[in-house]
Amino acid sequence: MRIRFSGNQVEVQTPAKVNFFLELHDRREDGFHQLETIISSVSLFDTLRLRLRHDNQIMIGLSPTCVQRADSPAHAVPTDKNNLVYRAIDLIRSQVRRGSNSEWELPGVDVWIDKRIPAAAGLGGASSNAAGAMMGVNHLWNCGFRLASLQQLGAQLGSDVPFFLTGGSAVCIGRGERVFPLKSPANMAVVIVKPPIGLSTRDVFGRCTIPRTPFSSRGISEQMSTGKARSVAKQLFNRLESVAAGMTDWIVRLKSSFSGLNCLGHQMTGSGSSYFGLFTNQMVALRAAACLSNRLPDAKIFACSTLGRVQSSSFLVRD
Ligand code: C5P
Repeated sequence: MRIRFSGNQVEVQTPAKVNFFLELHDRREDGFHQLETIISSVSLFDTLRLRLRHDNQIMIGLSPTCVQRADSPAHAVPTDKNNLVYRAIDLIRSQVRRGSNSEWELPGVDVWIDKRIPAAAGLGGASSNAAGAMMGVNHLWNCGFRLASLQQLGAQLGSDVPFFLTGGSAVCIGRGERVFPLKSPANMAVVIVKPPIGLSTRDVFGRCTIPRTPFSSRGISEQMSTGKARSVAKQLFNRLESVAAGMTDWIVRLKSSFSGLNCLGHQMTGSGSSYFGLFTNQMVALRAAACLSNRLPDAKIFACSTLGRVQSSSFLVRD
């Protein structure tokens, strides 16, 4: 996450993520799944601009390009209380109110969002926006919440929000909200393809079966610390991929498209529908992206790279 702070305004660039590993361990009583996943943030960013208001409203606006980029009205980004950004800001505000004895009301916030990360794609866009909004108002309102407190609050908003507050690469367990950062070098070349259909996380999890003998992420997390994309690529795994493949033909189509490329390894990310491949370097990745965009004219293609913690966690640039 990148934060630029200037007077009463904050600009936050919030990254997408891919899952290098995702295994299910159990179905919990609250309906969620106990999982073990390895997530890396990647250099595909949404931009959030937050500015203090003179009243106490939280107002969300979308850039015109972001409205045009939505695949369908169903994937249009909400601008009301259903937007995770709204809920993130409201949550921080109620937490501040709870801890303060005065009647003093925090000023409202205007949020302008420019989305490039596709929705319903397994790329964590909404969770990343929520994490960015939390970081943003923490600075704007001078709340002074530390990372651990923000992560605890963020877990109430979505399973991936605590990860995005940390960034880089991490092993995440529980619902995904318990984050253990991994020492993993940045700049692994990644190409992501988002097909024209999206998949609902809830629907995909709803159809999955818990394996009798779950796989462990230990092997791939060891490989990630070496930073050798070739070794990491050999151990990619996503338990949800076969479930998603039963819901749309696109997963099989994407698998075969990546198989014909000079790709080290490929799989679906999160609960889909996006699919990604790892490449030896950026040049090879760019050639593959060009080839994929010829073969799959309906899909969106992004060539990007994994981010290290320093690149993806918050840093302030005062103008
Ligand atoms: O927490 P998040 O917003 O990512 O979850 C979206 C939906 O995905 C949940 O409502 C739940 O149905 C499913 N889910 C799950 N187990 C998880 C994470 C998500 O079943 N660990």
